[in-house]
Amino acid sequence: MDSAVPDALVRMVGITKNYAGVAALKGVDLDLRAGEVHCLIGENGAGKSTLTRILTGAEQPTQGTIEVAGHTHNELRPAAAHELGISAIYQETDLVPDLTVWQNMYLGHEPRTRYGTLDRRGMRRSARHVLDDLGVGLAVDLRVADLSAANAQLVQIAKALTRENRVLIMDEPSAVLSDHELSGLFGIIRTLCDRGIGIIYISHRLDEVIQLGDRVTVLRDGRGVETTEVRDTSIPAMIRSMVGRDLTDQFGKVPAARETVALSVRGLTAAGRFQDVSFDVRHGEILGIAGLVGAGRSSLLSGIFGDLSPDDGEVAVEGQRLAGGSARAGIAHGIGLVPEDRRGAGLVLGRSVQDNVTLPSIDSLSWGPFLRPGAMRRVTRRFIDDFAIRTPSPAQPVRFLSGGNQQKVVLAKWLARGVSVLLLDEPTVGVDVGAKSEIYALMNRLAEDGVAIVMVSSDLPEVLGMSDRVIVMSEGRVTAELSRNEATQEAIMEAAVPTSAAVA
Ligand SMILES: Nc1ncnc2c1ncn2[C@@H]1O[C@H](COP(=O)(O)OP(=O)(O)OP(=O)(O)O)[C@@H](O)[C@H]1O
Ligand SMILES: [Mg+2]
Repeated sequence: MDSAVPDALVRMVGITKNYAGVAALKGVDLDLRAGEVHCLIGENGAGKSTLTRILTGAEQPTQGTIEVAGHTHNELRPAAAHELGISAIYQETDLVPDLTVWQNMYLGHEPRTRYGTLDRRGMRRSARHVLDDLGVGLAVDLRVADLSAANAQLVQIAKALTRENRVLIMDEPSAVLSDHELSGLFGIIRTLCDRGIGIIYISHRLDEVIQLGDRVTVLRDGRGVETTEVRDTSIPAMIRSMVGRDLTDQFGKVPAARETVALSVRGLTAAGRFQDVSFDVRHGEILGIAGLVGAGRSSLLSGIFGDLSPDDGEVAVEGQRLAGGSARAGIAHGIGLVPEDRRGAGLVLGRSVQDNVTLPSIDSLSWGPFLRPGAMRRVTRRFIDDFAIRTPSPAQPVRFLSGGNQQKVVLAKWLARGVSVLLLDEPTVGVDVGAKSEIYALMNRLAEDGVAIVMVSSDLPEVLGMSDRVIVMSEGRVTAELSRNEATQEAIMEAAVPTSAAVA
């Protein structure tokens, strides 16, 4: 070993990465020790994902070196990175939807029987074992297409664990996990560390950094600002070095609820997903929907919007009943939905930022058959500024934006349209602290304009900070309705945990 730091598994030195028109990384240093959790934080577009993609060989650096196990490389190719025991769980899942859980877990490195055939039984059995180890009660024969975002994420983690790893990169693994699943994940991470694996953990949730991390590196604008021991830092200090200033009163909640009902939902039922859900949302009101992942919250939003056709019940906007099961009816009645799976449902990845922002509002931005390019540019510009969307230009394909910035584009898309009821599914997942405040400010502004907002969120501080009223769901049913004063972390958790699980 000729490494200067004897226990460093990996040392990245002076890493620079230029894309056409974008300097994503500007001379970043990062080292990873055996058995540590090294957190990587920074605002959307700071370069976190790019840095880790260079380590897995998915991208090649423009400059800099990567030292692994005493050897220095100018770049790594994916096969070489695998060989060196470097695995990653990316922000966007790379599972094959049509294959089963176990097939996905062993895709590309399927074990063989001694007759040279695929060892299906072995794979199913070990897949089961890895998932059990993770505390995930998921049938290995399910198709990935049928899994919730959270479960798909867990399968990704399980997939990475089927290999012999030395370095494991997790790019926002917690984004779609509930508290319960998260503590399971943390348990696994600690076990892996005890085995000497080094983990690079990217997250926008700074409490996780405090809870889990040994060291933390802050990136800002493609530069490494600092690397510190987690025990020597604090959340405010991390925020300061990420955004270069202090942030106070993140939510800035402004009560704006009026008397008139904007959205009313009665006895809405979709077999196996949610049962007999009823509530009203007034103009200017923000209704939070809390619950564990899998409680039926996202399906409920689809049921209201019309993506999913309910078996029973009614949805009415401004007293007008919607024809069930048609998203077009939802849109026509002024309902907007920002889905949880933005890459799948929210965006056209190959199209520009401007196209994505303005497509759903094309009617209001054209004049008869003519588009109004000036108006489209102005609207896009406004959202790019308002949300601090980091893009070299409005013409940049959304595919090339960082995860959090793609997220902001989805929000802008619906807000540009002007809706009277806005359904938000995990609106700030993957969004950095600064942009989170921007999104909250925007929700407040919309509420003041009379928009009724329904927000599904697994982020309890966010639910408590932003909601006028909170509904809790468990196993497809509403188990509690709490006023802003009654809503506490404890009250929500109590109603969220399924009674069957409490007994077990
Ligand atoms: N293939 C690409 N082509 C052009 N620009 C790119 C490409 N990939 C990334 N970028 C740009 O590089 C910068 C860093 O992106 P990166 O995805 O590393 O950010 P991040 O820190 O992971 O952000 P987030 O928290 O939003 O996930 C961004 O400005 C992004 O738009
Ligand atoms: Mg990223």
